[in-house]
Amino acid sequence: TGLFTYDSGFAATASCKSAITYIDGDEGVLLYRGYPIEQLADQSSFVEVAYLLMHGELPSKDELADFDHKIAHHTMMHEAFKNFLGGFRHDAHPMAMLVGMLGSMASFYHNDLDYDDPDERRLAAIRLIAKVPTIAAACYRYSVGWPLRYPRNNVEYVERFLRMMYEVPSEPLVLNPVAAKALDLLFILHADHEQNASTSTVRLVGSTGANPYVCVASGVAALWGPAHGGANEAVLKMLDEIGDAKNVQSAVDRAKDKESGFRLMGFGHRVYKNFDPRAKIIREMCHKVLDELGVDDPLLEVAMRLEEVALKDDYFVERKLYPNVDFYSGIIYKALKIPTDMFTVMFAIARTAGWVAHWLEQQTDPEFRIGRPRQIYTGARTRDYVGIDRR
Ligand code: CMC
Repeated sequence: TGLFTYDSGFAATASCKSAITYIDGDEGVLLYRGYPIEQLADQSSFVEVAYLLMHGELPSKDELADFDHKIAHHTMMHEAFKNFLGGFRHDAHPMAMLVGMLGSMASFYHNDLDYDDPDERRLAAIRLIAKVPTIAAACYRYSVGWPLRYPRNNVEYVERFLRMMYEVPSEPLVLNPVAAKALDLLFILHADHEQNASTSTVRLVGSTGANPYVCVASGVAALWGPAHGGANEAVLKMLDEIGDAKNVQSAVDRAKDKESGFRLMGFGHRVYKNFDPRAKIIREMCHKVLDELGVDDPLLEVAMRLEEVALKDDYFVERKLYPNVDFYSGIIYKALKIPTDMFTVMFAIARTAGWVAHWLEQQTDPEFRIGRPRQIYTGARTRDYVGIDRR
């Protein structure tokens, strides 16, 4: 009862108009600015995709070189960031650190920008794309107690990140091109996904006129939950717990039992009622990475068996629950020696490209106004206050 349409979880409400990403969940189609995700995964790079999401068109050679150059030259963190980092507990979850560090970015880079100027808005977007990997790697190194490693400007985005994560001065990192390509691919696939929970959060915060750094920090917070980006970490923990292909059937049975409170992580999606197109690409890449890196991970066998059993089970078939993007990504991250609690951080690095593209789009929306959902009130009717000695 009420004056408003009730739509729990916004399953049937369009909160904005957007020209960035198109999804057809029944057909398993995902397009960034009209380009099929399969073609971008095969032929593009994450930096090019970030440009595409932000600007709406693929860049020319010069435009890409200029964008790349700008990103490379905004990767440094202010030295005072180290003070923030030093305040975290040594075993803090890196997502907790990332939320805090991104929020603190507003204190360094917000005051000098005029957001009415499109160039200054783009500068904020570039700073975010450039600095999030630096911050992410710093969070990791802090958690393992290593001295921070500064970004190298003369290498590509993914290589720069891997060097900040793992390189030590006496042992230059020997970069495996298959690993670098796999990471770039994962970043492309995770770059945007229209009005998911975190992007909608960025837009809702953005609708108040808040600065882009805190908008993105709020996106990171929303991403952390296991129903969203935290699923990639949860998948690996689940596969670890299942441990062996022979235990798969009982895990599937448990996921069907609502009383158990257990869901198959990496399965199901609000929008895709068919195979998640990103999962298909990741599945293939997963086999390739393990083959080429010579990794024999028993969890892959568990994952494949799980997929096989669930896809034949009536419960999953009737509800159209297919593996989603996070089902295989964790196995690739593990093969790349990314620690499990960094998985969602990896997602956040990639999704920053989408978040800033949405924030930029929102700033020029002619129908821009504050987001203010209504509710169906279910509380008490008007009643008289009762003094404490009479309750
Ligand atoms: N395992 C078992 N049952 C499930 C699962 C699952 N993973 N997902 C959905 N269901 C059941 C659910 O219990 C419900 O059954 P019934 O109709 O009998 O009540 C039905 O399927 C519909 O589920 P829902 O919760 O109403 O669907 P939703 O659109 O609200 O939720 C979801 C979507 C992704 C949150 C959910 O499928 C889920 O929790 N999946 C596991 C977590 C996960 O992998 N998340 C990553 C999503 S993709 C990447 C991203 O967004 O970051």
